Amino acid sequence: MLNTTPAPDGQPFNLHTLHNAHGMSVTLMDWGATWLSALLPLAGGETRELLLGCEATSLYPQQEAYLGATVGRYANRIAHARIMVDAQPRQLAANQGAHQLHGGPQGFNARRWACLEADASHVRYQLDSPDGDQGFPGNLSVTVTYRLTDDNRLEIEYGGTVDRACPVNLTNHAYFNLDGEGADVRQHRLQLFADRFLPVDSEGIPSADLTEVDGSGMDFRQPKTLAQDFLKDRDQQRVKGYDHAYLLRRTSGALDTAAAHLWSSDGKVKMSVFTSAPALQLYSGNFLNGVPNRSGGTYANYTGVALESEFLPDSPNHPEWPQPDCWLAPGKSYRSTTVYQFFAL
Ligand code: BGC
Repeated sequence: MLNTTPAPDGQPFNLHTLHNAHGMSVTLMDWGATWLSALLPLAGGETRELLLGCEATSLYPQQEAYLGATVGRYANRIAHARIMVDAQPRQLAANQGAHQLHGGPQGFNARRWACLEADASHVRYQLDSPDGDQGFPGNLSVTVTYRLTDDNRLEIEYGGTVDRACPVNLTNHAYFNLDGEGADVRQHRLQLFADRFLPVDSEGIPSADLTEVDGSGMDFRQPKTLAQDFLKDRDQQRVKGYDHAYLLRRTSGALDTAAAHLWSSDGKVKMSVFTSAPALQLYSGNFLNGVPNRSGGTYANYTGVALESEFLPDSPNHPEWPQPDCWLAPGKSYRSTTVYQFFAL
């Protein structure tokens, strides 16, 4: 990884690599608290990169795909960049037309995080987001801890506190390609334990109530390739593929059962996702075209898949949805944990 050009704040990008007893390694960066790389040793001596990333650290602030970044304050979209605070509409900073995507134009992905702790198995970053940041109310302090275990689990734990009530929804925006860089990710098999998904309009804004996956191409309750029912539904056609939040079967606190499994097309790698978050956004990389890759070129659409743990999009404006409250109150702590576990088969 080329790492000579400074970050937008003039300081160097600082990288940290975690290692485990199985020879797996994971690299993180303080800029955007970004997950840069996941290298998994496979049978036969091959080591495979499972994560999309750029050739040089200086390319990260230039791409708009949020590759591996920590996303906040509110991951996914807030319609018309507007929330209600004390029964009054409050305007947030918009960055996708009239809407806010992934925390606004200067979201947490575009910030220098402080590194609080680091050793061979974990690194912990912290960020202060001042009152009014991207339009949000209250001073928010957040942490993210990445821990690599000896059973090839990357555990990502988020924490946060505020001094005024504010919606908080932190996620990591890693894109996976378990076949290695450049392959069409639609040949991966996916199993996603969700009975309902949230329909969206062509701008990704929720457009209907939670809908049963039963009988549609949105159904991943049994493993199938992303290709099998690709673009079959009107819901997919609006957003060029899968770009939808699924409400997980159990709504919180369950890190012991998988939310999803993903298999490489060559049968050599499996990934399982565990999360305490209520929903997973399945995004099939529909707009990856032109994003800088690891080898001096660019990615094509559908060469990476993201499985983002989060509250449903636009939840601050939908208190009626069956999930925990996305508003963090003063005196309470935000806690969310997501685990990506990798298996060499
Ligand atoms: C969104 C996509 C968006 C991508 C990159 C995903 O989480 O759902 O619509 O293109 O992030 O911004």
